[in-house]
Amino acid sequence: MRIKVIGGGPGGLYFALLTKKAKPEWDIEVIEQNRDDDTFGFGVVFSDDTLDEFLSHDLPSYDRIREKFAYWDDVAIHYKDNEIRCGGNGFCGLSRITLLKLLHARCREEGVSLTFSRRIDPDEIEQLCSSADIVVAADGINSVIRERYKEHFKPAVSVKANRFCWMGSTRPMGEFNYFFKQTPHGVVCAHTYQYEKGKSTWVFEMDEACWHAHGFTETDEEDSRAKLEALYAQELDGHPLLLNRSHWRRFPRIFCENWSHKNIVLLGDAKASAHFSIGSGTKLAMECAIALSCAVVDHGAASPKKAFAAYDAARRVPCQVVQHNADVSLAWFEHMKRSFDMEPMQFAMVVMCRAKTITYDNLLIRDPGFVRKADDEWYERYYRETGLDYRTSRPTPMFTKFRLRQMEVANRVVMSPMAQYSADREGNLTDWHFVHYCSHALGGMGLIFAEMTCPSPDARITLGCTGLWSDHQEAQWKRIVDFVHANSSAKICMQLGHAGRKGSTQLGWEEADHPIAEESDNWPLVSASPIPYFEKISDLPAELDRAGMARIKAEFVSATERAARAGFDMLELHCAHGYLFASFISPLTNKRADEYGGSIENRLRYPLEVFAAMREAWPEERPMSVRISASDWRDGGIAEADLFVIAEKFRDAGCDLIDVSSGQTVPDQKPVYGRMYQVPFAEAIRNVPKMATMAVGAITEPAQVNTILHTRRADLVALARPHLWNPYFAHQAQAWYGAKDESWPQQYLPGRNQAFREQERLRQKQMELQTKARPKRHALNEGNA
Ligand SMILES: Cc1cc2nc3c(=O)[nH]c(=O)nc-3n(C[C@H](O)[C@H](O)[C@H](O)COP(=O)(O)OP(=O)(O)OC[C@H]3O[C@@H](n4cnc5c(N)ncnc54)[C@H](O)[C@@H]3O)c2cc1C
Ligand SMILES: Cc1cc2nc3c(=O)[nH]c(=O)nc-3n(C[C@H](O)[C@H](O)[C@H](O)COP(=O)(O)O)c2cc1C
Repeated sequence: MRIKVIGGGPGGLYFALLTKKAKPEWDIEVIEQNRDDDTFGFGVVFSDDTLDEFLSHDLPSYDRIREKFAYWDDVAIHYKDNEIRCGGNGFCGLSRITLLKLLHARCREEGVSLTFSRRIDPDEIEQLCSSADIVVAADGINSVIRERYKEHFKPAVSVKANRFCWMGSTRPMGEFNYFFKQTPHGVVCAHTYQYEKGKSTWVFEMDEACWHAHGFTETDEEDSRAKLEALYAQELDGHPLLLNRSHWRRFPRIFCENWSHKNIVLLGDAKASAHFSIGSGTKLAMECAIALSCAVVDHGAASPKKAFAAYDAARRVPCQVVQHNADVSLAWFEHMKRSFDMEPMQFAMVVMCRAKTITYDNLLIRDPGFVRKADDEWYERYYRETGLDYRTSRPTPMFTKFRLRQMEVANRVVMSPMAQYSADREGNLTDWHFVHYCSHALGGMGLIFAEMTCPSPDARITLGCTGLWSDHQEAQWKRIVDFVHANSSAKICMQLGHAGRKGSTQLGWEEADHPIAEESDNWPLVSASPIPYFEKISDLPAELDRAGMARIKAEFVSATERAARAGFDMLELHCAHGYLFASFISPLTNKRADEYGGSIENRLRYPLEVFAAMREAWPEERPMSVRISASDWRDGGIAEADLFVIAEKFRDAGCDLIDVSSGQTVPDQKPVYGRMYQVPFAEAIRNVPKMATMAVGAITEPAQVNTILHTRRADLVALARPHLWNPYFAHQAQAWYGAKDESWPQQYLPGRNQAFREQERLRQKQMELQTKARPKRHALNEGNA
């Protein structure tokens, strides 16, 4: 077997070393354009987890990494004259040149041939491929091989907004330091850590406007150094900044759809890049090198194709997870100024929890003292703002009250609206609704939402949707509301909506969003513009005219009056998910030429008119919310700037909270799902127009709820599907955190006591397990600190 590895970075070298070690008879060559002592940049970071991986694959290189690294446990966040430390993080820093040199040595020991100072040009590649069984393209972020065959590899490249540059310093440090600095032109962050005795990495990052205003230029390193040394004089403590090709760049986020072509396989940054703010680029490259080596050793000789398929199967998902975390982290840094009005511990929480993997409960394991301080600050601020005192009972933020107008919810957990498709054909409720809502309301959530309910028969999505246009329906809803009020501490919110072009469709568990199978059961549709939901499948909606607008508005007012009489505590107008009002708001579905189309102000006009009329009819002391789709997940859809206009206009019209959902506007949407995936939209509205928000979407754990609240991403946290399989989510979480002063139905009190004992035991056990399961600590070597 002949293997050529193009690029002698950490990925290429580690692959070559592991493969040659497993197959000494194979001929493996690494071709690197630089000399063997050239390097760019300064240090790299590995977590305890990654060190564990190295330990299990090549002990000699692991030992040499350990001899040289600087190890730290604390992250220190420097913010407005405060230094906030969070322990238990277990990371090491190592000089990039040291890493490369020890990998060179290991490669030579195993018999890998290393060729330096040779650059492979694009026109050489064909010939190289025919002279080898496998060509590993490990030629970094600007890979010429990937570019040469880009129609096969299909790279998706997006260049991120912030400017960064990578410098070094002689300043020693015993922890990872984030130095945040407010300058007259904006916020700058220095990500810094020691990687060997007396050497530290300093990556500076800021947004484009701040970068321009400071007068930086891309390649004038000396000027950048002078400016940054002046700005960070205090933090550098008399030490200079060091340069090494320290040009200003913007981070290219790359992910290739295909990882191999003929006998070429991509490795490391050439295939997928991960933003430096989670320190995972080298980790990703070396972990992929391990998987590629295993696959090539197992299958390479018989079938490179099979080896590449095994590599892809092993690494695609882990790569996507790391990249997704990196994306969320970099997005936070792009908007760091939005958190700059926070108190110190809240700011530290948001920095620590920015990438979703670290939550409130993880931090309790890493550093309980840090969480205690964050909680202290939270309860203190809450006491100042509301007069409610949780400083002694400390139930966690999730179990604190929240007030909107005169409505006070007992905690921050919400059951999100969920259509049950169980009404009779006339839109009347059935026993199902009574049992479903009443039993769920006993589960301990502060607020429970009714499903999208319609003010007229032709506003329904399906024939199973509930209505609120008749006295009978009003009485049915009132019976539920009365039960909830009499038997639980939950408040209950009605959601009113009109299906628009997504109406007259099948039940949720049938062919959803498709027309009703029995043709005669369908009814005519209306929408902002005459565009069907599914081309050639859905019925063509009529463009809603003025008379239709007036009729629908009157129906919403009438349903609002009914909801008020039925005793609902809160009312929501559904302006999300592609239904009628959403069809006005999104530029993808609103192509109108009148004053209801065009600018975001125009597209909002009709939803706002309806909202304002409902607000008039709804009791002053009761709150109203609006549910929006904060992104259409498609080019040309709602932009962030629109989002802020939407929130502000509804706030001006008397809306108290934005319920932040996303998507379902068009069938060819491309959502990026993941844990808490819609939370950044809620966070943006919470931090920019500073409106109360409710976050929802793939939130499944109490720890996530507490993280969202602690980091000011939302004021209420809604869970939909988790409540379908666990109506007692909130009660269970109370027991988990020992939040004792929540009210349970008296009939269930014996169960409560048991739940508290059981959950406390479970929590202790889980904490012990997680503490034990933490990666082995790789301990500081004396002399490196
Ligand atoms: C500011 C910044 C900070 C970072 N901080 C960290 C960190 O703290 N931790 C971390 O893990 N990662 C960090 N990274 C990322 C890290 O540098 C890379 O992700 C990692 O080096 C990828 O390894 P690789 O082997 O895929 O590619 P590279 O390390 O880029 O190696 C590619 C090699 O290929 C060679 N090459 C390229 N083209 C050719 C050619 N045509 N012919 C021959 N040779 C060629 C190059 O000279 C290079 O040596 C950071 C990156 C940046 C930009
Ligand atoms: C069965 C079901 C029915 C739903 N019906 C509604 C609805 O009537 N109104 C609405 O605004 N959202 C509706 N949704 C969306 C949810 O409220 C929620 O936004 C979504 O499921 C994401 O939250 P989750 O990840 O916690 O499930 C529904 C979701 C499900 C699963």
